[in-house]
Amino acid sequence: MSADLSPIDIAKFAAAKRASGFVEDGMRVGLGTGSTAAWLVKCLGERVQDEGLEITAVATSSQTAKQAQEVGIKVSSLNDVKWLDLTIDGADEYDDELNLIKGGGGALLQEKIVATASDRMIVIADSTKKVATLGAFPLPVEVLAFGMPTTQLLLEEMLNGLDVMGNKATPRMAGDALFVTDEGNHILDLHLGRIGNARQLALILNQVPGVVENGLFIDICDVIVTGYGDGTVETR
Ligand code: 5RP
Repeated sequence: MSADLSPIDIAKFAAAKRASGFVEDGMRVGLGTGSTAAWLVKCLGERVQDEGLEITAVATSSQTAKQAQEVGIKVSSLNDVKWLDLTIDGADEYDDELNLIKGGGGALLQEKIVATASDRMIVIADSTKKVATLGAFPLPVEVLAFGMPTTQLLLEEMLNGLDVMGNKATPRMAGDALFVTDEGNHILDLHLGRIGNARQLALILNQVPGVVENGLFIDICDVIVTGYGDGTVETR
């Protein structure tokens, strides 16, 4: 690890390093997406090279698949593997009940499918991701391109009746163009401020036509490994 890392990167690395120790020879492992998950992929790549660790890896994004291959991890398709022992991924927010907001990197759909297809999901995060109530981080919702402005209106209208502080939905951009997910869809970020009932919201969002999946992960995460800027780690 470089001495030049910022405290936040030290925290991400520490969490990823600890979680990489949960991976055992022969396991089928889901690899998350984002900067914290990138540290994990790096740590696992080192174990593959140094210890001859053998795993069947499934990536949650094209970005992670590319990085994994670069560090010597062979990537398989979930269609072939079907079920995993363990998925390790980052999060944008987590609460006391281990519920999450994910999708800051735009990979929430594949991340949710892979995590749900795993016996265990471990989240790795720096300590800034811990919140009392989910919702300060804009909630990503993956939507079909067809009728997206209508989906946006329907979502904003639906949010008016719920226990949230805001109802604005903004299309995610990549430069001047709409952001496109690995599945060819777009993302609407919901600026909610505070989510009073995340369990209810997760169910209702997916009832809106045009919504493919939302970034609320309820009852999916089993363990959180939190890293701190001084390099210490807490697991719960
Ligand atoms: C990607 C995600 C990421 O896990 C989340 O955005 C956290 O990213 P980072 O580790 O870079 O803070 O959900 O879709």
